[in-house]
Amino acid sequence: MRFDTVIRHGTVVTASDTFVSDVGIKDGRIVALAAELTDADEVIDATGLFVMPGGIDSHVHLDQPSGDGIVMADDFDSGTRSAAIGGNSTVLAFCMQEKGQSLREALKIYHAKAEGKCHVDVAFHLVITDPTPEVLGQELPALVEDGYTSLKVFMTYEGLRLRDDEILATLDTARRTGALVMVHCENEDAIRYLIGRHEEEGKFAPKFHATTRPVAAEREATHRALSLAEIVDVPIVIVHVSNREAMEEIRRARQRGQKIAGETCPQYLMLTADDLDQTEMEGAKYVCSPPPRDKTSQEACWEGLEQGVFDLFSSDHCPFRFDAPEGKLNEKGKRHFRWIPNGIPGVATRLPILFSEGVMKGRIDINQFVAVTSTNHAKLYGLYPRKGTIAIGADADIALWDPDKRVTLTNDILQHGADYTPYEGQEVRGWPVHLLLGGETIVKDGLLTQQKGRGSYLLRNRSSLVPRDA
Ligand code: URP
Ligand code: ZN
Ligand code: ZN
Repeated sequence: MRFDTVIRHGTVVTASDTFVSDVGIKDGRIVALAAELTDADEVIDATGLFVMPGGIDSHVHLDQPSGDGIVMADDFDSGTRSAAIGGNSTVLAFCMQEKGQSLREALKIYHAKAEGKCHVDVAFHLVITDPTPEVLGQELPALVEDGYTSLKVFMTYEGLRLRDDEILATLDTARRTGALVMVHCENEDAIRYLIGRHEEEGKFAPKFHATTRPVAAEREATHRALSLAEIVDVPIVIVHVSNREAMEEIRRARQRGQKIAGETCPQYLMLTADDLDQTEMEGAKYVCSPPPRDKTSQEACWEGLEQGVFDLFSSDHCPFRFDAPEGKLNEKGKRHFRWIPNGIPGVATRLPILFSEGVMKGRIDINQFVAVTSTNHAKLYGLYPRKGTIAIGADADIALWDPDKRVTLTNDILQHGADYTPYEGQEVRGWPVHLLLGGETIVKDGLLTQQKGRGSYLLRNRSSLVPRDA
């Protein structure tokens, strides 16, 4: 067979195996894995490089309306460009339902936002903020059949949070339809109460974002979400876990026999609440929810990755400009942490940080790296085996990693819309030097090779966590 492209002499890494092989690509798919493939239009020399499935980041916020004049720093163009620079070939973004809006209306708006702009493949999770009988009874079941097979619910944020009975009704619909529910676990009433107390005490600086969202508020909500899922007997994903106590809730639920996936993010390995405690509002750069905790929590999150409590390592990329009236330093945000938009950029730094801090420092092996950054995302969100592995028949979404390349993270190389990175100045060892999407090179030597996005929208199967008869 004559191939379109052959990747030669690289070390192929999947979630289970590491082996030296050439990779033959035809019509956007991987069609051969063998030694010395030669007959090709294009040959990419991967000597000394790891050949891995492109990263899949299943927790990314792009172009979401954020209220009150606040504007997210990335649309689908800049956000997916930055994703590609950081070695990702697929992102799962959120399609946020407004109150009173049908899910189909919301999807129409988000598809229009993404259309023709994406540099990598994209799919949407639905965010359910208004679980009316029509939404749960008719729309959601039809949309799951149509390939929108995951959704997120919030236990915090005024205007987004669901009550427990609403969460139960949503989980029950998920069980009947075979959808997978992601849950943001923080106790909103406790947070509101603490914000009130902080206001009485005149505490308004960014660092108080962390003290109004304590570990106990996350642990309690995590336990409650797991209990609600147990009551209706449905798998769930606990997203962006920041500390040991919430993590141990996941472990215990699994020991009880529940099917639970867990996710953590770079900010919980790399940042602490001290980063919010800085002069000149600098701390606003690190305001996200749940907030970064302390060194002990970082160690716990590493343990969760090493021991498989966390299946997913995602960015929770939710970018706002720092020095901008529509961003972190909006007029109200300058005066009160409560109005600092929550979220930090991270879609480009997720993989290099885990590779450098995890693989190169011996905390996880390279197969675990592939599992938690790509394969498990594909399996849990219904994209496997088309995505998330190097195998015959899979999409040729391939990242070539140079384990010896040292890069100092600076905002300008990340190509996102935010005016900062929380990781400015940090050196990483290992970098995705080349990225193919469907067999086409889209990033070479850290630069996008095509200005026009050629990513597609992906309809998805049901999650590997969902029982087959659902
Ligand atoms: O602070 C964060 N994480 N913002 C993004 C929204 C969310 O809760 O995932
Ligand atoms: Zn969340
Ligand atoms: Zn998020």
